[in-house]
Amino acid sequence: MDEILLGLDVGTSGVRAVAVDAATGSFVAQAMAEYPIMMPKPGWTEQDPDAWGAASMQVLAEISHATDGPVVGLGLAGQMHGSVFLDAADRPIRPALLWNDQRTARQCEEIVERVGTEELVRATGNPALTGFQAPKILWLREHEPEHYARVSSVLLPKDYVRLLLTGDHATDASDASGTLLLDIANRAWSAEVLQALEIPEAWLPAVYEGPQATGVLRDDVAAALGVPAGLPVAAGGGDNAAAALGVGVAAQGQMSASIGTSGVLFAPTDGFAPDPSGRVHAFCHALPDAFHLMAVTLSAGGSLRWWRSVCGDVSFDELVAEAETAPAGSEGLVFLPYLTGERTPHLDARARGAFVGLTIRHDRAAMTRAVMEGVVLAMRDGLEIIRGLGVEFHDVRVVGGGSRSPLWRQLQADIFGVPVHRTSVDEGPAYGAALLAGVASGVYPSVDEALSHVQAYHEVTAPDPAAAARYDELHAIYDPLYRALRGGMLSLADFADATADPAALSR
Ligand code: XUL
Repeated sequence: MDEILLGLDVGTSGVRAVAVDAATGSFVAQAMAEYPIMMPKPGWTEQDPDAWGAASMQVLAEISHATDGPVVGLGLAGQMHGSVFLDAADRPIRPALLWNDQRTARQCEEIVERVGTEELVRATGNPALTGFQAPKILWLREHEPEHYARVSSVLLPKDYVRLLLTGDHATDASDASGTLLLDIANRAWSAEVLQALEIPEAWLPAVYEGPQATGVLRDDVAAALGVPAGLPVAAGGGDNAAAALGVGVAAQGQMSASIGTSGVLFAPTDGFAPDPSGRVHAFCHALPDAFHLMAVTLSAGGSLRWWRSVCGDVSFDELVAEAETAPAGSEGLVFLPYLTGERTPHLDARARGAFVGLTIRHDRAAMTRAVMEGVVLAMRDGLEIIRGLGVEFHDVRVVGGGSRSPLWRQLQADIFGVPVHRTSVDEGPAYGAALLAGVASGVYPSVDEALSHVQAYHEVTAPDPAAAARYDELHAIYDPLYRALRGGMLSLADFADATADPAALSR
């Protein structure tokens, strides 16, 4: 019987686990469990770390029971940047602050005052950004000193789950890149930045490379899951790096696009090559000595999920089928997807979403289409920045929930202007994590061998020249809208802060 690799992705809307046949790289089982996201104030997002833990145990037990072959390794992936503050007994002190939480604008200013933007980009590959981990630590110090006084360690989301599974404080270089505390070129914590921010290095986990084992499952966990004792757990990767590996994106010239809650363009680079103006991230890849650029649209699938919740009793499939009937460009309706602020290219925590161009003729079909088009137009901003930095590519491999929808794929082909490829296994981060587990457990002798199991393309979506030309025109109209509306967005954000009803917002 073929050996089985498990991959786990601690996502934002839920956790997903997959079981992969190591010999063929094909996918034998999957399970998913959801958990809520809390929004106690405008711009704040939090989750209960123990909800990730319980959901992870549930899905891992489900898939290990659904597979016959011997399970030989587990790899972890997860939403990046979140902060889990732990006390000396390794218990969470408060709910985790998430990657799309925007409360830390003031702490980002403090980081710039202490370190300087140029130095920060040189050392950590990024300017101070609200979603990242370092400003969250400073926020706790300033706003919840009683909690701060009890902190003994700080972990990223998947690494808190690792702690529950193995007892180890460990992370991988790709996820550690999203803290603003890693010296990216040297793939180690930056003593200089830690000192400037007065954050003790002892709080941070050991940094491994994605395909290395960080430890083994605790005996009680292995028994509860029905997998062999001593099962190795791979360091794995941040969700985007793991997803990129899952579609074979490892070297410069390749590019993946993921539409999950966020929308991400992921472009490996030959070396550490930060964008001097910090509009796209420069991070370690989840492979030794490998780096990448990344453009992040904060609310991608998240915008469509929001729109569906506004529309009431309708499924995603019904909404998207309606959107297919609306014309390219939605008859002059544009959606700005800045529902949780925006990273690429605006780096603006207080950006706000908008429909621009509404007329009495626009119906739900056109509005749904405009939401989807607005997301991909926003992602194109990132694509142009990456190209402008000299990183060329000729096609895009799609991954994540968005890769399964023909309309999302066609919009990406038309708006990016390159063919969009879909691999036959596009399970996203969990699949990439399972491949890394194959290296960590010794089943695959090398990363190249692991990547050779990525299944060949089975679907290519070519750009439609007429639609692509129309979207070029629409992008030129979309492009200045943020600057034109920014003043109003800021005033409305202030107005919302002053008038928010916390009880209504935490629904
Ligand atoms: C990447 C980012 C998001 C999360 C979502 O920088 O913030 O893509 O990783 O899971």
